[in-house]
Amino acid sequence: MAGMAHERGLSYPQSERWSERARRSLAGGVSSQFRMSKDPHPMFYERAVGARIWDVDGNELIDYTLSQGPLILGHSHPDVLAAVKEAIDRGQLYAGQFEEEVVLAEALQRLIPSAERLRFGSSGSEAVHAALRLARYVSGKPKIIKFEGHYHGWLDNVSFSVNPSLDAAGEREAPRRVPWGGGVPQEAGRDLIVLPWNDLGAVEAAFAAHPGEIGALITEPIMCNQGCIAPRPGFLECLRAACDRYEAALIFDEIITGIRLDLGGAQRYYGVTPDLSIFGKALASGFPLSALVGRERFMAPLERNEVYHAGTLNANNASVAAALATLRVLEADDGAAQRRLWATSRELCEQLRALAESHPLPLRVSGPGPMFHLGFHERGDVTEYRHTLEYDGARYQRFCALMLERGVRLIGRGLWYVSAAHGMDDVAMTIERTRDALDQLL
Ligand SMILES: Cc1ncc(COP(=O)(O)O)c(C=O)c1O
Repeated sequence: MAGMAHERGLSYPQSERWSERARRSLAGGVSSQFRMSKDPHPMFYERAVGARIWDVDGNELIDYTLSQGPLILGHSHPDVLAAVKEAIDRGQLYAGQFEEEVVLAEALQRLIPSAERLRFGSSGSEAVHAALRLARYVSGKPKIIKFEGHYHGWLDNVSFSVNPSLDAAGEREAPRRVPWGGGVPQEAGRDLIVLPWNDLGAVEAAFAAHPGEIGALITEPIMCNQGCIAPRPGFLECLRAACDRYEAALIFDEIITGIRLDLGGAQRYYGVTPDLSIFGKALASGFPLSALVGRERFMAPLERNEVYHAGTLNANNASVAAALATLRVLEADDGAAQRRLWATSRELCEQLRALAESHPLPLRVSGPGPMFHLGFHERGDVTEYRHTLEYDGARYQRFCALMLERGVRLIGRGLWYVSAAHGMDDVAMTIERTRDALDQLL
């Protein structure tokens, strides 16, 4: 089916009609800024199974967006859906405690090195907010180090220097705090110190320049949101040591790396234990659930009712059931699903790299596999945000549109997500279509 669609070249008249209609009721026709695709327009879908999603025009697409990452088992995994259906037959939200919530917390405690205590929430953005509040309170210090190009959700106090232009960002050694769009008050970022990533000297210099003022350092352990860049060897360890030395909380934003890179997150993968971390996305396979995870000392203010964190929909029955089922599937048969995910995604990366070597366009693949970045980039080194500005974004947008016409759904920013439902046949089809799309771009 998908092969035939490729030969045909896809078109999307129904999606276009719905998209026009949506713009008259939904702001921008969407419910999240990241869904506002312009080439050709936001697409409308009606069903999805495994690695495939079908749009309202009946086109079958191999999906590497996985709904921005959560669908680690692919769409509509039968065990996840069965667990959710069973759970909601008994109610949807007790706003009181229930056994499964504790069982899930215990499972995560077993897997995540820093998980002495947990709190469930509904989105990554709000869990980041809670982590910063706790870090400031426990450390007694207001300033937070945040890295240029890292995304920690859309709330005010981290909505700075997410993807600034070079002009706006200023000097590399002393980057400006650039608000992420309008309506973000400059004062909200007053206590943020923005630094280039992967540069330990910059971190040491910031701690030295603000003695007794820095309460936390927040980082994506892999810079997934811009270029999927790995930390330099030893970088995370050195961040740990610097935070210890200056008595600041080390916060890992594991919204993308959590569960996906390793069930225990990047902290277990790299062997560096933060004080606080945030899990979400793949945790509940597409149901709204985040987990704020931390050492007892940093979570104790919640127990003592000194710092507030709340949420009407937190730990709802469907999300908790989905998370338990996701972990069950990922841990079954000694981690067979995870091994499949790694094998497929590594093969895809290797074949894309081989294609890049033989193709005149400067294609670059970066990242561990379960998530990775693809883009057009001439230079050798990409270790921090400013290097990612040299990716040819316009060409990649065109590439995405060509891939869509060939039945492959991609995220316009270059991040690819692979699931345990993708197979080697998907890899083969994807490579064939990628080659064809690249040839069209020449
Ligand atoms: C690293 C990171 N942190 C935080 C968030 C925000 O999570 P949510 O969209 O669940 O609010 C995201 C979302 O993409 C993310 O990638």
